[in-house]
Amino acid sequence: MTIAYDVLIIGSGAAGLTAALALAEHKRVLVLAKGSLTGGSTAWAQGGIAAVLDTGDTFENHVRDTMVAGAGLNDRETVEFVIERAPDSIDRLCELGVPFNRDADDLHLTREGGHSHRRIVHVDDATGWAVQEALLKAAEANPNITMLPGQTCVDLITSRNAEKFSAEGRVWGAYALDEASGKVEAHIARATVLAAGGAGRVYQFSTSPRGATGDGIAMAWRAGARMSNMEMMQFHPTCLYNLEVKNFLITEAVRGEGGHLLHPETGHRFMADYDPERMELAPRDVVARAIDDQIKRYGLDYVHLDISHQPAEFVREHFPTIDEKLSGLGIDMTKEPIPVVPAQHYTCGGVIVGLDAATDLPGLWAAGECTESGLHGANRLASNSLLECFVYGEAAAKDILERWDELPQPPAIKGWDESRVTDSDEEVVIKQNWTEIRRFMWNYVGIVRTTKRLERARNRLRMLGQEIEDYYGSFRVTTDLIELRNLHQAAVLIVESALERHESRGLHYTLDYPETDEVARDTVLVP
Ligand code: FAD
Ligand code: SIN
Repeated sequence: MTIAYDVLIIGSGAAGLTAALALAEHKRVLVLAKGSLTGGSTAWAQGGIAAVLDTGDTFENHVRDTMVAGAGLNDRETVEFVIERAPDSIDRLCELGVPFNRDADDLHLTREGGHSHRRIVHVDDATGWAVQEALLKAAEANPNITMLPGQTCVDLITSRNAEKFSAEGRVWGAYALDEASGKVEAHIARATVLAAGGAGRVYQFSTSPRGATGDGIAMAWRAGARMSNMEMMQFHPTCLYNLEVKNFLITEAVRGEGGHLLHPETGHRFMADYDPERMELAPRDVVARAIDDQIKRYGLDYVHLDISHQPAEFVREHFPTIDEKLSGLGIDMTKEPIPVVPAQHYTCGGVIVGLDAATDLPGLWAAGECTESGLHGANRLASNSLLECFVYGEAAAKDILERWDELPQPPAIKGWDESRVTDSDEEVVIKQNWTEIRRFMWNYVGIVRTTKRLERARNRLRMLGQEIEDYYGSFRVTTDLIELRNLHQAAVLIVESALERHESRGLHYTLDYPETDEVARDTVLVP
């Protein structure tokens, strides 16, 4: 058995590449990505990265805003840990050449919902793409980093997969499907970092890319890691409503720079009826619920987001990517309002990690959107996510390097067994199940929930689970099948967590338990 790498990283987004770059000073690192290296959410991020850089702002302000948005479910130690490291993260990104917008010598700071100060560092309205490019460039130039796109990890390798069985539960890498050859290979490593992103595609309407199917969350669960707060799925208030373009985000910074939300027929600025003080800059859960309420109350298809009262030059300068996209669809945002609806946007819950990014499982660290670190609580504050990826990517690398000498050498690992499967002759089952899950998750487990609807979703998931496992046990794996299995697993975790929470808090709003408990408690699911 040859092991060519020291550390395996699953995911080439902000979390995975930050960890890779920090590890590569001392270790040989393999980064695997499903599809292309730029296929995760990182490349799609618009608004920016939150960091206290202005002299009039303080860490305490940022901590308070994060915990107000998170409805008190955040872990204060984690919040401080991340926020205090934000300025250093921005410095490192500047060193990597990320061309952040500037006002003379200072970084330009924009504003987003839930933030009491201007503190969002950004590259126009396409921050994620600039960050992804800079990280990739640095990783490509590093001889200790090998990046393999087109590899869909199927499952983590654990002690159960060792030639000599051990019940230890240690993680030794992952089995991955090579998308080109159709072969599954074992990628064995002494340390594995899971940075596989969120599970947004579990919902019919989502701003997330196609690959956000909760693979990391599902793989960690199957390997034996606990999950927390999976019911906290964030809905972004303003996704473009368009019959052809389904998941284009209109950044929160449009509201931050003065955009108003209006009833499309009366022109009423309806946030005055829901949160008169913070209006459009209330945290996301509040704004998304207000829009959902307007849509349901008045039978609307969408509401309007209007920034046309600002000078056209200002709008074009701040939002060039959005302006270009909308122009292509015949909408001139400098002159007319934009039709918007809420859509799933971010997975706040996930694999439980400590401040060292270590999971429950020896040999497995995790960072980024697939985790629950305690930062976001019941609702993520805008632009705190990329920041979490940088801080936890670094934390994982630091902990692995510190513990390296005590990490055991991998045992002999069994190869992938395909002796009992054949090629699928019924791909239609995958498409059907995928569509079904996403539709009932949207209708039954969306912005406003009830126990009855959650139980309906649970029943359907039970039925589909049996079908999917039968299918998985009979046919050779494909990326679509792997994703369906994970999407289903993520949906189960969301529904089970939602049924466990008997209160409304942050993103979890249920008509059966509308009050908020005095004490905030995490929902923890144990495999
Ligand atoms: P991702 O960037 O999603 O990367 C996941 C990686 O895992 C990918 O490389 C993928 O290929 C790989 N992967 C997944 N499954 C497998 C598998 N089975 N096998 C192998 N590899 C796998 N946050 C902010 O802070 N500021 C913003 O302005 C902002 N804007 C956003 C705009 C949009 C439209 C979206 C969707 C999100 C936005 N977010 C923003 C959230 C933020 O972009 C994400 O939370 C963050 O980028 C997640 O990074 P990550 O490294 O955890 O995962
Ligand atoms: C946005 O630009 O509105 C997204 C910011 C975020 O998700 O943090």
